[in-house]
Amino acid sequence: MSDGRLAIIGGTGLTRLKDLEITHRQVMHTPYGEPSGPLTFGQYHGHEVIFLPRHGAQHTIPPHQVNYRANIWALRDAGVETVLAIAAVGGITEQMAPGVIAVPDQIIDYTWSRFHTFFEGDDMGGVTHVDMTFPYHEDLRQALIQASRELELGAVEQGTYAATQGPRLETAAEIDRLERDGCDLVGMTGMPETALARELDLRYACCAVVANWAAGRSDGIITMEEIGRNLETGMARVKQLLPMVIERCRVS
Ligand code: HPA
Repeated sequence: MSDGRLAIIGGTGLTRLKDLEITHRQVMHTPYGEPSGPLTFGQYHGHEVIFLPRHGAQHTIPPHQVNYRANIWALRDAGVETVLAIAAVGGITEQMAPGVIAVPDQIIDYTWSRFHTFFEGDDMGGVTHVDMTFPYHEDLRQALIQASRELELGAVEQGTYAATQGPRLETAAEIDRLERDGCDLVGMTGMPETALARELDLRYACCAVVANWAAGRSDGIITMEEIGRNLETGMARVKQLLPMVIERCRVS
């Protein structure tokens, strides 16, 4: 699919890629500051992969403080053309039950006050408006979908991701509003990451893991214990999925 390097951005529940045979780590400096950590280079099931945990190796960077620009810039600087973004989300609509894997095809940005573009000042040569009609790279989405079908993981193959500001979770009324807007999933990291990847012309798709029913979609409140439990199930599925997705990216 692409000769350039492939990166995996790990989300909550995936700060380490267990089967990655690490060759080296590289500290990157960007015009936008420091990424979430050094890039980890290695062989993953026979393929070269770069891994970057979005929230830092110790999971210390909250969603609103992730330096999305530095992360995406550093990956591009390292020769990455393809980004598989793993993200924990809340499930809004019926099919998005905890533990489910979803491959969103749309996203709505509800975040605010984040550095959300590379196009400011003279940075990238004036005013540019990138097309975002289809925010995720369709071939990459299909690689995720086909791998999930082959492994019978039952991934939900489309859905709209609501990117919220966090770090607090939403109110039940906010989730009702997101559902009225057409959203199926809610997470705190999808934007500006998706848009920044597009600005640098990277192939980018999201593999979302549902960690909990979103606020007001279950009887009780949302607990970290519940999130941790469901992420364990969901991330185990992601780890099954990734080698096959990467294989598909490399051969198709
Ligand atoms: N809301 C926003 N982000 C999330 C959630 C949620 O319910 N669960 C995991 N990430």
